[in-house]
Amino acid sequence: MRNSDEKSPDEVRGITAGLTKIRNIPSPRWRGTRKPRISSLTQYRRLYRESLQKPEVFWAEQARKISWYRKWRTVSQWEPPFARWFVGGELNACVNCVDRHLEGPRRYKAAIVWEGEPQGQIRVLTYQELHREVCRLANVLLRHGVRRGDRVVIYLPMIPEALITMLACARIGAVHSVVFGGFGPGALQERILDSQARLVVTADGGYRRGAIIPLKENLDAALAELSCVQTVLVVRRTHCPIPWVEGRDYWLDQELEKVRSFHTAERMGSEDPLFILYTSGSTGKPKGVLHTTAGYLLGAMVTTEYIFDLRDEDLYWCTADVGWITGHSYVVYGPLACGGTVFVYEGAPDHPSPSRFWEMIERHRISIFYTAPTAIRAFLRWGEEWLSKSDLSSLRLLGSVGEPINPEVWMWYFEKVGGGRCPVVDTWWQTETGAIMIAPLPGVTPLKPGSATLPFFGVDAAVVDPEGNELPPGNKGRLVLRRPWPSMLRTLYQDPDAYRQIYWTPVPGCYFTGDAAYRDQDGYFWIVGRMDDVLNVSGHRLGTAEVESALVSHPAVAEAAVVGRPDPLKGQALVAFVILKEKASPTQALMEELRAHVARQIGPIAKPEEIHFTEALPKTRSGKIMRRLLKSVANRSEVRGDLSTLEDQTVLQKLAAARSEPIIGEAEPESWED
Ligand code: WTA
Repeated sequence: MRNSDEKSPDEVRGITAGLTKIRNIPSPRWRGTRKPRISSLTQYRRLYRESLQKPEVFWAEQARKISWYRKWRTVSQWEPPFARWFVGGELNACVNCVDRHLEGPRRYKAAIVWEGEPQGQIRVLTYQELHREVCRLANVLLRHGVRRGDRVVIYLPMIPEALITMLACARIGAVHSVVFGGFGPGALQERILDSQARLVVTADGGYRRGAIIPLKENLDAALAELSCVQTVLVVRRTHCPIPWVEGRDYWLDQELEKVRSFHTAERMGSEDPLFILYTSGSTGKPKGVLHTTAGYLLGAMVTTEYIFDLRDEDLYWCTADVGWITGHSYVVYGPLACGGTVFVYEGAPDHPSPSRFWEMIERHRISIFYTAPTAIRAFLRWGEEWLSKSDLSSLRLLGSVGEPINPEVWMWYFEKVGGGRCPVVDTWWQTETGAIMIAPLPGVTPLKPGSATLPFFGVDAAVVDPEGNELPPGNKGRLVLRRPWPSMLRTLYQDPDAYRQIYWTPVPGCYFTGDAAYRDQDGYFWIVGRMDDVLNVSGHRLGTAEVESALVSHPAVAEAAVVGRPDPLKGQALVAFVILKEKASPTQALMEELRAHVARQIGPIAKPEEIHFTEALPKTRSGKIMRRLLKSVANRSEVRGDLSTLEDQTVLQKLAAARSEPIIGEAEPESWED
């Protein structure tokens, strides 16, 4: 937990009470021809009240937006902490995202507009074409023995095949586990092992800032000691030479030639697993968040409809990678279930120049743009001149996700990118919640820069003390959700005890988000940040314990502690304190080696910004590392608070000595994805 002496991230980010109170911006209304879905704040409040008073009525009504093979019997069952939704219903998520759009005018509408990083590579897939590709891939998976309930790991760049593979898994009832292409062999191996996947889909590489990401090499390294994977399907993307294991590896294009282009989807139960997505927690081991079919799909779909107000004529761009939950819910399932057209881009925002995004918005006339604050901060830093060359008049709505957005950055986004005419929807949610939980409704909810504003329908969010009592406005506390919702995680994969322990035990009767927040006088939510040892680096969740175990796995390291410090671009940056083994000497070369080691183990996003070699770490008498003190050292702030539990009082001087000659690694590329 945060110590009250410390500066809160709010203060560091410059969110002050004064600033938040003055700014109250009417949400610009889109001047389109269609009627707004929600027309006033009063209507929102009435519907919100109803959704909490009669959740079953509300969700049953919403669930009519899904195509069912068989209707559910019971809307929800709640045996704390295990929820079931639309029990007895049968559906297929892929059919809802693809097949049902073929029956009407959307058949030849673009489902995916894709641009590769190398200039000039553009691919457009209509719903009809998407259907064919998904069916063929489904048949390839079946041909290689994948059956309902089997796990398939997807380790791909942002190319149409990533979306197609996810949908193909959903179609045959296989459970996909997408691993972010920026993760290295260590993280990949851990995820494959935990999910016991029998098949992996990867590529011969992907483009990122002009370079090629060696996905296949990484995968081969990850598979070296694993026996569960029998088949690897390889997408030909870069045509660069790759290692090959005969009998295990197959080129996907060759396999696609062998199968038919139609396939009858599996009838899945509402509560059948749809996917596992690993995310960071307080322990060194990532958690396998399990989502099921109907509730998840419905959550992703209705939030896309209301919060992004997605229409048939929109070109919608969520910049997230499919390796993250945002990519699952708001690149694939939400917008496609709505019959939208999604734009997908493979590469880096600054390749070949920092105007790349704006050029693509102009080229394709993108109308909805959803990205992360860390990206917006990078744009702001690169300067306005990169934007001013492009015509951004097609934009009508902007979104933000992943971390708190500084009010100044929000204003810049609103004014410079949105030209003051686009509402900015700051959306708060998590891998575990599956869909957006707190966000404004565009054109309706008055906006306050830096606040995710008000809860979505059916979401009973509150700020409480450790006993679960609601706190008055202005008081910081734990952000909880007080009742189950359709798109919530059902459990942690094969670890229901940890599920109960992590989410349902800290605050009695509530789902604990792990975030601290407060509400203002208007009931608006202000997210302060994580309360656990999870950091948010460039919009990505990283557990300090994961980085610590990666460091400790290096032969020169005896012990390591990792903390975060505020960073103007990344939100938070990693600072590592490392105790070396006797034989090792603290050289610059070793430091670089350790950074490279972490990149290999987890991925480049986890490379510590600073590594301090130290002789000791501040510990309590029971041996627990006092992170609060390390944070002060990392933040270069005065060490305050109670030091009486510190076992070795000389440690602080030793650490201060280490800090006086900060050993800072080379600057990272300005990106939020690697
Ligand atoms: C943080 C990403 C402030 C929060 C969808 C949460 C945010 C964690 C916001 C989940 C926001 C996400 N404002 N903080 N709008 N959105 N967060 O699982 O700390 O990758 O707990 O899901 O990101 O990260 P995750």
